[in-house]
Amino acid sequence: MTHPRVAILISGRGSNMTAILDAAAREDWPCTFALVLSNNADARGLITAAERGISTVVCDHRPYGRARRPEYDAELVRTLQEHAIDWIVLAGFMRILSPVFTRAFPRRILNIHPSLLPRFPGLRTHERALEAGVADHGCSVHLVDESLDGGPLLGQARVPVLPADTPESLAARVLVQEHILYPAVVRAVVSGDLPRLLSEPAGASLDQP
Ligand code: GRF
Repeated sequence: MTHPRVAILISGRGSNMTAILDAAAREDWPCTFALVLSNNADARGLITAAERGISTVVCDHRPYGRARRPEYDAELVRTLQEHAIDWIVLAGFMRILSPVFTRAFPRRILNIHPSLLPRFPGLRTHERALEAGVADHGCSVHLVDESLDGGPLLGQARVPVLPADTPESLAARVLVQEHILYPAVVRAVVSGDLPRLLSEPAGASLDQP
């Protein structure tokens, strides 16, 4: 059987991408990382991907503007289809995706979000968690559908919020968990385990102590 072809989409430093590529190389996953795509030509993660011999491509969103988002998304879809991509892993890809994109890859797009969804969808999650005074915080991996950060959960990892936390210290503690959780979920999904992840309560098998 041929291995599924995976694309990772990034906008910046790409530390989650790197964690996934490191784990895949260590453990010999049954998939091919066929493409790393960025909307930002200056994304640091593009250099990391190229160093590892993975094809990279930049699809700049700026010529399209917000009004022509569906046209930009059609360009993304075309690019991913040209590379025969089966699974799309969003790893800090800072664009909101329109239905043009999500409908082209139903239940084939994963995202990591830095909060315990459904708490704190959207931006500034660590600041908002501190403002809300929650006792715990964390990250979630979910399937992407047409809702904002609202698709079915595949796994979560939890960290305590400490009295002296700042948004930065909390973000750093959550990021450590992202780098454990996301590779574990991607590995499970490319190995054919999506039905099991969907049938279990979020994070049941992947939650960190
Ligand atoms: C991560 O915090 C991720 O949860 C969010 O964007 C950030 C990306 O960081 N979606 P990196 O580019 O993977 O280092």
